[in-house]
Amino acid sequence: MAETIVLCAADEVVEGEIRQAPLPDGSNVALYRVEDHIYATADMCTHGEASLSLEGMLNGKIVECTFHFGTFDVTTGAPTGMPCEIPLKTYPVSIVDGKVQIEV
Ligand code: FES
Repeated sequence: MAETIVLCAADEVVEGEIRQAPLPDGSNVALYRVEDHIYATADMCTHGEASLSLEGMLNGKIVECTFHFGTFDVTTGAPTGMPCEIPLKTYPVSIVDGKVQIEV
């Protein structure tokens, strides 16, 4: 069963920045605002132990992990640049009463 988790206010997710938010299991998600939509992915790079919200650079819909310069499309989680080959987990996002919530 999917569980709904409320993460933060939608206006805390700002274009060009990456917002980290914790999940109940102790992992984190990374939130991005791209063209007025909010997207959520796992915060941990699939190539290594790098937090995308702390170590990543967002350029449009592409996040670059600065550890080894791999990239992902944050709207789909798909890897778009080596050495990243494994997709990021993504979460369905909805905005309810001005708050970001995801299904996990
Ligand atoms: S840890 Fe992210 S590209 Fe290597």
